Amino acid sequence: MDNLEQLVAEAAAAFAAATELARLEDAKAAYLGKEGALTVLLKGLGKLPPEERKAAGAAINAAKARIEALLAERREALKAAQLAAQLEATALDVTLPGRGQPAGTHHPVMRTLERIEALFASIGFAVADGPEIETDWHNFTALNTPENHPARSMHDTFYLLDEQGRVRPDVLLRTHTSPVQIRTMLAHVEKYRHLDPLPEIRVICPGRVYRVDSDATHSPMFHQVEGLWVGENVSFADLKGVIVDFLRRFFESDDLQVRFRPSFFPFTEPSAEIDVAFMHGELKGRWLEIAGCGMVHPNVLRHGGIDPERYTGFAFGMGPDRLTMLRYGIHDLRLFFDGDLRFLSQFQ
Ligand code: FA5
Ligand code: MG
Repeated sequence: MDNLEQLVAEAAAAFAAATELARLEDAKAAYLGKEGALTVLLKGLGKLPPEERKAAGAAINAAKARIEALLAERREALKAAQLAAQLEATALDVTLPGRGQPAGTHHPVMRTLERIEALFASIGFAVADGPEIETDWHNFTALNTPENHPARSMHDTFYLLDEQGRVRPDVLLRTHTSPVQIRTMLAHVEKYRHLDPLPEIRVICPGRVYRVDSDATHSPMFHQVEGLWVGENVSFADLKGVIVDFLRRFFESDDLQVRFRPSFFPFTEPSAEIDVAFMHGELKGRWLEIAGCGMVHPNVLRHGGIDPERYTGFAFGMGPDRLTMLRYGIHDLRLFFDGDLRFLSQFQ
């Protein structure tokens, strides 16, 4: 029965050579399958003389049992290897320390806005707001801005398109917070129409505004804080006092350098622009324009439903992004809106 020994040895070698379960099942067929070597031997028993059959049958069955055992053993080994490979591939080390969720902070411009709101609240200003998608009427016409004013051009203002892709003449992304002056006056007059005199209006209006503009001191989306004080005896002296006092408190500096530079806005008369000098860093001493301001133009008061013969007011529109640049000595305002954490995390 030497050939049986050889058959077992061959099967052992074939099973060992199979490195995947599917190949192992192929190898099995050659020995134990319907046409397999052992099956053929068992079928051939009938041809042996009866006295040899018993011993030959026992020997073949013993060889078959050994081959079946070898097969089972190899099958288990391959399954274990497959499982180990799977576990390795999807390994999760639960003992690794977590990455955690770093605590967020307030954006530097938001801090400035909160500071501005707190300082103006302390002298009796409420906060008002209006929509970022504004009507042409509130943004320009009611603010005494003529039809042909350059600010109304496509080079400066983001317009909106209708469903056919045509520029809509009636709505735009507001270019400043000044339209909130109009909304505030109209709502105030409506609310207090039974009172004479009209209670004073004292509001600031912080918010986002948009212009076709981009360089170190101009961003296409930026912030403004409008201020409006309307009453029976409001003067340019009040405007100057409020602004200078605010700026000194904002920058916590009594010797802050501030200048009012004569200027022009269609919605104020007289008008000025306000500049502040950088106090630290390489920009020290350089002037940066932070606001426009002036006495509210009579036509604007009229559009707000207020009688310019009885009431006067001042308004200003400042750039909190610029105030933030000055406060922290930052030379490029685009850094505020790039979303770079290396920059933002310095304001923890
Ligand atoms: C105005 O927008 C006027 N509405 C301000 C005003 C209000 C005048 C009320 C009179 C009465 P101006 O375009 O200068 O004015 O903008 C005001 C301030 O916004 C500027 O002084 C500057 O601080 C800031 N600013 C203007 N454009 C940008 C910009 N692209 N990026 C960042 N800040 C800007
Ligand atoms: Mg200006």
